[in-house]
Amino acid sequence: MGNDKPRIREVALTGQESPTVKTIRLYDPPTSDAAPGQFAMLWVPDSGEIPIAISGTEEEYSEFTIKHRGETTSEIHDLGVGDKIGVRGPYGVGFSRPTGPAVILGGGYGVAPLRYFYQSNSSNVPLTTLIGATSAEELLFVDELDAEIVSTDDGSRGHHGYITEVIEDVLEGKDVEMIYTAGPEPMILRALEICKSRGLDLEASLERVMKCGVGLCGSCLIDGFRVCKDGPVVGLDQLDEFSEFGRWTRTASGKKEPI
Ligand SMILES: Cc1cc2nc3c(=O)[nH]c(=O)nc-3n(C[C@H](O)[C@H](O)[C@H](O)COP(=O)(O)OP(=O)(O)OC[C@H]3O[C@@H](n4cnc5c(N)ncnc54)[C@H](O)[C@@H]3O)c2cc1C
Ligand code: FES
Repeated sequence: MGNDKPRIREVALTGQESPTVKTIRLYDPPTSDAAPGQFAMLWVPDSGEIPIAISGTEEEYSEFTIKHRGETTSEIHDLGVGDKIGVRGPYGVGFSRPTGPAVILGGGYGVAPLRYFYQSNSSNVPLTTLIGATSAEELLFVDELDAEIVSTDDGSRGHHGYITEVIEDVLEGKDVEMIYTAGPEPMILRALEICKSRGLDLEASLERVMKCGVGLCGSCLIDGFRVCKDGPVVGLDQLDEFSEFGRWTRTASGKKEPI
């Protein structure tokens, strides 16, 4: 668990973003001061502790947008206003500040850290937002991030297919320098290929099973890179060097498995 002890906080507000995704708001000055792309470890007693990106901040409050997946995320979904949860962090390396026009590319709940990135940067540089999801009801923050194009795997809204299929059309005629992305690994890999072929830069937020969150336990390694401490945001050159990314991951027990 590192040296940090969880701070026990009360849930101040909750919001249902989709049938499977919920946002909770906590009064927590340390994470409200985080950089977009950084994450916190959220602790539910008797269940577990999991890494969750900061999806937005307001004054000394932070928000976390969480997909219902297994035991701990299910417990967090059950929390209501006034219920308690532990928070450690913020941890990790976040996104850089954009210096020119950029594209935001989010898939599934990967849109969560990009929402905070948009909150922090949209008044300084032009940002073009592309968002993908499995279906229309699972698209996150489309209006808030003023998405130019959305896609759904089932065709229920926007482009029918993957969001990566529209990137090249969107880039035509746009003076974009950089893509900021978070979401499924195949989406990130495709964005990497596109950036390499067009000479664009890229930063991506990665996900691996995390236990300590502070670089000590080794559960989040990709080719020796500690996603919790050296990431979760990585740049194009680093991402391009990984031999495991998009091919192998580790289970919660540490076993290496093909993706
Ligand atoms: C840096 C980072 C930021 C993240 N941000 C978000 C976010 O903003 N919103 C969101 O919904 N999810 C986010 N996740 C994923 C989230 O941590 C997992 O969905 C969660 O841990 C699943 O826990 P569970 O107990 O509900 O599910 P479980 O039943 O324990 O596991 C379901 C699956 O979740 C993954 N998982 C389990 N434990 C961990 C763990 N400790 N760390 C990472 N993955 C794990 C495994 O692939 C597992 O197969 C983030 C992960 C990382 C690494
Ligand atoms: S989670 Fe322990 S080293 Fe990254």
